[in-house]
Parts: sequence; C-alpha cells; structure tokens
Amino acid sequence: MPDAAGTGHRAAPRLFVHEPDALAGAAARWLAEALARAIAEGGRATIALAGGTTPRPVYEALTGQLAARVAWDRVHVYFGDERAVAPDDPASNYRMARETLLDRVPIPPAQVHRMEAERADRAAAADAYAGLLPGRLEVLVLGMGPDGHTVSLFPRSTAMDEQERRVLPVIGPKAPAARLTITPPVIAAAREVVVIAAGADKAAAAARAIDGVWAPRDVPIQLARRGTWFLDRAAAAALGSPRG
Ligand code: 6PG
Repeated sequence: MPDAAGTGHRAAPRLFVHEPDALAGAAARWLAEALARAIAEGGRATIALAGGTTPRPVYEALTGQLAARVAWDRVHVYFGDERAVAPDDPASNYRMARETLLDRVPIPPAQVHRMEAERADRAAAADAYAGLLPGRLEVLVLGMGPDGHTVSLFPRSTAMDEQERRVLPVIGPKAPAARLTITPPVIAAAREVVVIAAGADKAAAAARAIDGVWAPRDVPIQLARRGTWFLDRAAAAALGSPRG
C-alpha cells in the first residue's frame, strides 16, 4: 500500500553508526558534500536546519576546514521548526543555528530565512513561511525525540495528517510548547533527508523508525526512513541487525 505522504517507506535508510566523538564530524562532512553537490548541479543549495541540541556540534564542525568546501553565497537556509520565542531567546532554534554556524560562515544574511514563530498570529506566520519555502528542499536536516517526534511533528498529532499546508502552528508536549513546524509533505518532497541522533534515550525510537511496522502517525521520524541516518552507537543499540 503506498503511504499517504509518498515517502517510499519500503526504502531502507542509508545508515552510518559512529562512536559518539566521531558523529558530528561525519555528519558535517556529509552535509558539506550534499551542499556542494547541490550547488554543482543546480547553482544553489537550499537546506532546512534542525533545532534541538544534537545538531550543535555538527553545525560547529561545518565551520572548520569543511567550510571551504561550500560556496556559502549559494546557500539558502530555512528551518524545519521553531519555538514561539524571540530570535535572541536561548530556546530559539534560529539563535542556536546562528551562533554555531550562520554567523561563522560567509552566507548573505538575506539568504537565511528564519521562522517568525514569536509572532502573535502564528497561523499567519506559518502561511507566510510556507510561501518562502522552496517547492523542494535540497537538504532537510532532522533531529529525533525519544518519542519519535521530528521537527515539531509529535506522535498522533493532527499535524501528522496534514497533506496541503506546508507549515503549521502547533502546541507540542515538549517545552516551549508553542511552535511552527513543517508538515509531512515538506519532508516527502525533500531531495535529501538526513537524520542525526545520539544517545541511549533515542535507541527505541530509532529502532521503531527503521525496523518497525510502518506507522508514521505514531513514529513521525519514520517519514525519514528513506533518508541518510547518522547515529551514535547508543542510539543504534536497539536496531535489529548488526550495523556499523
Ligand atoms: C525542536 C526540534 C526537535 C528536536 C528533537 C531532538 O525544536 O525541539 O527541532 O524536533 O530536533 O526533539 O532534540 P535534541 O537534539 O535536543 O535531542
């Protein structure tokens, strides 16, 4: 049966499992290559960044020697989700990305498109962002929660049923609760999806996402099953067959 989001759930992920101290560098190398490839093929690269804490060292690793591999003036940056806080708030995904990456590479500020989730009218902010997003992101970076959520698509939330609107305001169970998030069609349309997760608390969700029955409404990160996954050993510990 084809899945509603059109994500090709029978496709197996490309899986890379690393020691914890090697994960960020490996994911950053993959990102630099994906951006360089998109620029070589199409003259520009669009990327949506993940929030949370896991990407911090990945983004930082992209600012080192790897930064020279990317023509940053050809990169257009978007976000997969954002918390309803000011852009300088410590909980802001934009602030995290700016501090770890965007302020440290020569990317034109006009090419960084933050989600204005702090706006009083979050529905209008969501619609405005949907208008900014390209039809197809070249690279979509995703994190994963222990409950299997990704971006701010939480298990069994109505946002998981969305097939038309590309960005929605949501109230999630993870603080800060009010957020904007991309929806399943945006994940389905992305050319390259990369999942980066670390830690034992992610192991069960990773196993359900990769080895479990197809049930993205219960395990939203399954929408990325066809993608490239970077896990540390702890996050990969519950996967069904030996990998490494
Ligand atoms: C957010 C997210 C969220 C995050 C995961 C993993 O804004 O909260 O984008 O989906 O990626 O919850 O978060 P950690 O990397 O902090 O574990």
